[in-house]
Amino acid sequence: MQNLKIITVSDSCYEKKREDLSGIAIKEYLEDEFIADDFDIVPDEIEKIENSLKKAIKNQYDLIVTTGGTGFSKRDVTPEATMNVIEKRAYGIEIALISKSMEFTDKAMLSRAICGICDKSLIINLPGSPKACKENLSIIKPVLKHAIKMIGTKKGELHDEI
Ligand code: MTE
Repeated sequence: MQNLKIITVSDSCYEKKREDLSGIAIKEYLEDEFIADDFDIVPDEIEKIENSLKKAIKNQYDLIVTTGGTGFSKRDVTPEATMNVIEKRAYGIEIALISKSMEFTDKAMLSRAICGICDKSLIINLPGSPKACKENLSIIKPVLKHAIKMIGTKKGELHDEI
């Protein structure tokens, strides 16, 4: 089992005006492969998001999934916070999530989600709704374990497994 940190980015969840259903949806969707033992709920503020991401990276989580704050509204800054912490960008995952999500809804193109790597962690931004989280996870789940394994191995070491 690999370990998973879930960060919910939402002003309304942070202010306890809304229940964090997306964090629960992510935990449940991945629980056969990942142990989620730490959840953060942070407001849509770049510094708070960044601090939560940095803490998770320092704690060497295999996978860090954020939900929310990827859209076009003024307070949507999760991608910007993510860009500030990642060392390498995982464009392929970003493209796969958007293009395959377009099969669910045209509004998928309104997500600016970033995916990338920092130290030992793979970081994935997901949109805010539980439905969008589950749809996006269904796209990425088949390659997640392999992707994370690659982060910790030498160049070319896993070629035979592909
Ligand atoms: N992707 C999938 N697969 N399913 C969805 O329902 N919703 C979209 C998009 N991506 C959606 C999706 C919508 S409506 C928006 S506004 C953007 O994600 C950004 O969502 P966020 O601001 O909650 O992060």
